[in-house]
Amino acid sequence: MTRGRFITLEGGEGAGKSTQAARLVEALERQGRRVIRTREPGGSKGAEDIRGLVVRGDAERWSARTEALLMFAARSDHLERTIRPALERGEWVICDRFADSSRVYQGVAGGLDPDFIEALDEAVVGPDQPDLTLIFDLPVETGLARAGTRAGDEDRFEGKGAAFHARLAEGFRDLPRRFPGRCVLIDASGDPDAVSARVMAAVEARLG
Ligand SMILES: Nc1ncnc2c1ncn2[C@@H]1O[C@H](COP(=O)(O)OP(=O)(O)O)[C@@H](O)[C@H]1O
Ligand SMILES: [Mg+2]
Repeated sequence: MTRGRFITLEGGEGAGKSTQAARLVEALERQGRRVIRTREPGGSKGAEDIRGLVVRGDAERWSARTEALLMFAARSDHLERTIRPALERGEWVICDRFADSSRVYQGVAGGLDPDFIEALDEAVVGPDQPDLTLIFDLPVETGLARAGTRAGDEDRFEGKGAAFHARLAEGFRDLPRRFPGRCVLIDASGDPDAVSARVMAAVEARLG
């Protein structure tokens, strides 16, 4: 059995990750591939329980260090129960956020030592790095305006203030320099069809 491919979608609030994850799954299924869509924090029963702790409540509820540990605890369960079994079955895994969100939210924007995050990544993700990471790049205000139209109470990170979100955008934009073999910047402006076309071009260019 050929191992599946692992694609992650990253970027700030409202950049269009969830919209494009659904569209990418549909496009790959039309090509006859077996695909699962999953997300972080979450993607397995235990990880979804942890999600409730991190995406709700007061913006200052957790320190960046504690938040990183919660995210990697969730990620460990997600990898064990969902991602690795699917890849081993030969399925493609499309994941809405993954470890780069820890690098950028808790590291770049949260001020946590990047070496601490890389040590967690090595211990938890290890060799199961994404084959491709699509980074959705959009002006912060456009993203927050889009995100503000969504329903629900999972708004803890949206409450962190303009300076935090500006650092997030910088952090995501810097990822292709840090991980050039894996990360591609996607212009997330324009309508969903235009963004989907850029996504499919990047997937075809990198994964064939
Ligand atoms: N290209 C786009 N143009 C305008 N609105 C969009 C676009 N893509 C997504 N949206 C809308 O913006 C909001 C945020 O998109 P979403 O996919 O949830 O972003 P993310 O998952 O990155 O936070 C949603 O209401 C979605 O329907
Ligand atoms: Mg989303």
